[in-house]
Amino acid sequence: MNLYSVKQLLYQEGQSQSVHIKGWVRTKRGNKFVNFLALNDGSCIKNIQIVADTDKFSEELMNRINTGACIAVQGSLVSSQGKGQSVEIHAKDIVILGEADAEAYPLQKKKHTLEFLREIAHLRPRTNTFGAVLRIRHTLAFAIHEYFNNKGFFYLHTPLITGSDAEGAGQMFRVTTLDPKNPPLTPEGNVDYSKDFFGKATNLTVSGQLEGELGAMGLGLVYTFGPTFRAENSNTSRHLAEFWMIEPEMAFYDINDNMDLAEDFIKYLVSQALLKCSDDLQFLSETYDPELINRLKNVVETSFARVSYTEAVEILLQSQPYRKGKFEYPVSWGTDLQSEHERYLVEKHFQKPVIVNNYPKDIKAFYMRQNEDGKTVAAMDVLFPQIGEIIGGSQREERYDKLLTRIKEMNIPEHELWWYLETRQYGTCPHAGFGLGFERLVLFVTGMGNIRDVIPFPRTPQNADF
Ligand code: 4AD
Ligand code: MG
Repeated sequence: MNLYSVKQLLYQEGQSQSVHIKGWVRTKRGNKFVNFLALNDGSCIKNIQIVADTDKFSEELMNRINTGACIAVQGSLVSSQGKGQSVEIHAKDIVILGEADAEAYPLQKKKHTLEFLREIAHLRPRTNTFGAVLRIRHTLAFAIHEYFNNKGFFYLHTPLITGSDAEGAGQMFRVTTLDPKNPPLTPEGNVDYSKDFFGKATNLTVSGQLEGELGAMGLGLVYTFGPTFRAENSNTSRHLAEFWMIEPEMAFYDINDNMDLAEDFIKYLVSQALLKCSDDLQFLSETYDPELINRLKNVVETSFARVSYTEAVEILLQSQPYRKGKFEYPVSWGTDLQSEHERYLVEKHFQKPVIVNNYPKDIKAFYMRQNEDGKTVAAMDVLFPQIGEIIGGSQREERYDKLLTRIKEMNIPEHELWWYLETRQYGTCPHAGFGLGFERLVLFVTGMGNIRDVIPFPRTPQNADF
């Protein structure tokens, strides 16, 4: 099939060439002699102009080609007289693949709000905004595999159905085939999950990390990249119930190696977007946020600030908004940093990305390596402008006794983690890793304001349409 994409035609040399193209009509305008159709096929942000002379194409046919219609065009590619494009197609043959009722088609030429577009998520990939976001999303996903592959990491596929709660946060979606109306019961009257599909209670995973660690302690360097699920009822612009996470796990890395990798990784990803998605970024920057491209360049060029949690709390306690009572949430050593605090550190104090490390152990997960002070763990969060936390990670507790004590202190069912504990009994080693929230990265790179607009079909509380 000698079918071209719009991208191929716009970026190649050569004229008066016979070409074949298919796509969706964005706009139609014209006069007595000629119709101009702007055609987009998703390959790039730009449209190609189709010129259809009225003496070649009947009015009846032209009336059926409206915004939203899908057409196939055969014609010659010639340099354009008009402004705004270098080449256009003079049509010889047009076939309508799918009509769209001009009145009823929800995507009219006028600008729609992002909220409205969420209600028609089945059609929004046809808009400039979502075309741009989804192409950038693809480029970032591809760059992630490229980055790790070049560094000798192996892509490890960890399970989505799991019997353990990796983060210990307890906000999981149950997976079961039991009849909800009539489940088997234990003598005590609880649901008897030993009769369930897997012979035990299972959930959708919140993280592939624990299995990632098993992989790293054999393959050395691994990463996961898959969907994760959290049943937290947070209706914010930064949370999804189903999101994608990238979790590298590295044998023999300590917390400093971990921070170095996280910084290098994220700079690589942002620089790939700048390199490969310039038209899409230009469009998003012109449409939504003139500072976008500068902000991206800034991340690539500056080295991230690194502070301990204790230092971060000191900075916050000295800050204007704290002293003027402007923070909504309290600041004190031992409480978790809220996104207003994180954004103050990044956007006001340091004015660049910040890695906060050595958090109090009581606000972090059981698997993080305990520091000598007995109070903190070797945790790290990477905080970004506009986003807040984009990466969370740590050096892992590799010492069996310390890990077991912590599991008991935190009332985590030890028997569910026997396999995790065994890796500390047989050939344990220092290791570390982190998790990058993929949608938070896409949010940052595209400059969009809401995480629902950087995943094709978002899952949030009360919303699983499409
Ligand atoms: O900080 P979190 O909970 O860390 C972990 O899950 C570790 N197991 C990672 C590891 O060390 N391998 O989540 C990691 C990142 C966060 O920094 C955030 O970017 C993203 O995942 N994230 C979410 N993104 C969208 N919606 C949510 N509900 C998210 N929860 C976390
Ligand atoms: Mg976190």
